Amino acid sequence: MSPEKALSARRFASMKGKRIAVLTAYDYFTARLLEAAGVEALLVGDSVNMVYHGQPTTLSADMPLMLAHTKAVVRGAPNTLVIADMPFLSYQPSERDAIYNAGLFIKEAGAQAVKLEGGVEMAPLVKRLVEVGIPVMGHIGLTPQSIHRFGGYSVQGRDAAKASYLTQSARALAGAGVFGMVLEAIPTELATEITGLVSVPTIGIGAGPHTDGQVMVINDIVGLFEGFQPKFVRRYAELGKLLREAAEAYVRDVKEGTFPSAEESY
Ligand code: KIV
Repeated sequence: MSPEKALSARRFASMKGKRIAVLTAYDYFTARLLEAAGVEALLVGDSVNMVYHGQPTTLSADMPLMLAHTKAVVRGAPNTLVIADMPFLSYQPSERDAIYNAGLFIKEAGAQAVKLEGGVEMAPLVKRLVEVGIPVMGHIGLTPQSIHRFGGYSVQGRDAAKASYLTQSARALAGAGVFGMVLEAIPTELATEITGLVSVPTIGIGAGPHTDGQVMVINDIVGLFEGFQPKFVRRYAELGKLLREAAEAYVRDVKEGTFPSAEESY
């Protein structure tokens, strides 16, 4: 790991209004490519559980899984801010669990920061993590670890009570010392209001164009996930199709005996 990362959590916090481009990454090879492409921060999201491991939700992601993916991303992108997503039950049971597990991401995996889900109720925990030296990114709105409470992947904050909870949460998290916060699946108007309320960058996913930055799941934008595709995803490539076609061509060549050729043999 490079001690001089191009962007620290501290510098990230100062990038309010700078249109910050964040993507998820889960492996060494992709992290290398995303760093070369100039992505400003990489989030090792617990979405890895769904897009890489075929699980129906993020809930069964655990510390060994997240540590392994974080280590690979840090190796692939030594000059990029790497944020590790704290999996379900790694921080909710107790402050001790939260500090210990967040610390493992920093100490063992080489991440520079962690992200955790939740609003005003998580503010005291965030404060404590920041006090012990761990930069924290917040995450409010549609928080997938609460999927069973929400009853599905739906837009959050449409009614006045939920909108008020989200604005209070954003304020509380900023007050607790987060260096940024993800706003997921929130109406544009509310996300814009929250962005104006807090001094740290807001990073939107399905939160409209007026947040300070955007984050997308890499597999979604390159066509490598065939599950549910929310309307806020923009597809930049169809790598899934290319991969299948390449594999089909290989199978055909093997069957026809045209691979390997004399040039491809010793
Ligand atoms: O796990 C994840 O990929 C995330 C992003 C969608 C913000 O939390």
